[in-house]
Amino acid sequence: MARANCAFIARAVTWAARQGISQFADLGSGFPVAAEHRQAEGCGISRLDADIHATARAVNQAARVAYVDHDPEVTDHVDALLPYFGFRGVAAVRADLRDPGAILANPALRKVIDPAEPICVILGLVLHYVDAAAAREIAAGYAQRLAPGSCIVITVPRFDDPQLFNQVRSAYTPAVLHNRTREDIASFLAGLDLIRPGAKPVAGFRPGWDDALQPSGSAYVLGGIGRKPADRLRPARRLSQKSTGSQAARPARRRRTAAPLSRKTPRFMR
Ligand SMILES: C[S@@+](CC[C@H](N)C(=O)[O-])C[C@H]1O[C@@H](n2cnc3c(N)ncnc32)[C@H](O)[C@@H]1O
Repeated sequence: MARANCAFIARAVTWAARQGISQFADLGSGFPVAAEHRQAEGCGISRLDADIHATARAVNQAARVAYVDHDPEVTDHVDALLPYFGFRGVAAVRADLRDPGAILANPALRKVIDPAEPICVILGLVLHYVDAAAAREIAAGYAQRLAPGSCIVITVPRFDDPQLFNQVRSAYTPAVLHNRTREDIASFLAGLDLIRPGAKPVAGFRPGWDDALQPSGSAYVLGGIGRKPADRLRPARRLSQKSTGSQAARPARRRRTAAPLSRKTPRFMR
């Protein structure tokens, strides 16, 4: 499940970077795989050993990333790795993702991320720690505050077998786990444009494509991506454009072009 989740998030980040998004907030990031560090130590790395910044920078060298986690062990670890990450444009932020306003105002995050510009917010395997109403509120809190053109990537674990879920829930002591459905994901992303193939198992999920693989077992990861339409927050300007019919009244959209795809981009991310 962890590998499938990691591969999907890499595909989602690549997709977002190709849409021109250059800012990424990985909320509840967990420990980065730190491929740069492992390479420097002479350790082997596999094709999945890419952190969000490495994946995004394979598309756009200028991509900036905030790794956010409330666990000080995680943020200390990221801090220690910053020299390997090249420092610039990567930040470790110790904060609670359940407060979207505080996260987006956090001074450490603001060093690398400008909330006035589109952000790809990643909520990977974290929204099963809270009940569905709280998860909806958290996701909506980000959706409201993000600039048009931003997106939210969500993954959650899914157990089709209630008995298996109960076993996992009782064995896992650090937090209460909630089983999630496709409808949950769609509701967390309500108000955003749900990117094809929708709220689906992450295996074979390629943003913008209709096909996703059916899971082979009863425990798997579900994912979804919502994008805030670029014009949804500009009603006043749209009105004036309609009323005048003038091209000049159109809001000046900043054009953001992704850097050409690096030759080094692993094939699975293309
Ligand atoms: C299962 S790991 C997910 C790691 C990674 N996002 C992934 O998709 O593989 C959950 C991480 O979320 C962090 N976390 C859980 N609740 C959090 C909260 N309220 N605020 C910030 N981080 C949180 C945990 O400390 C842990 O590092």
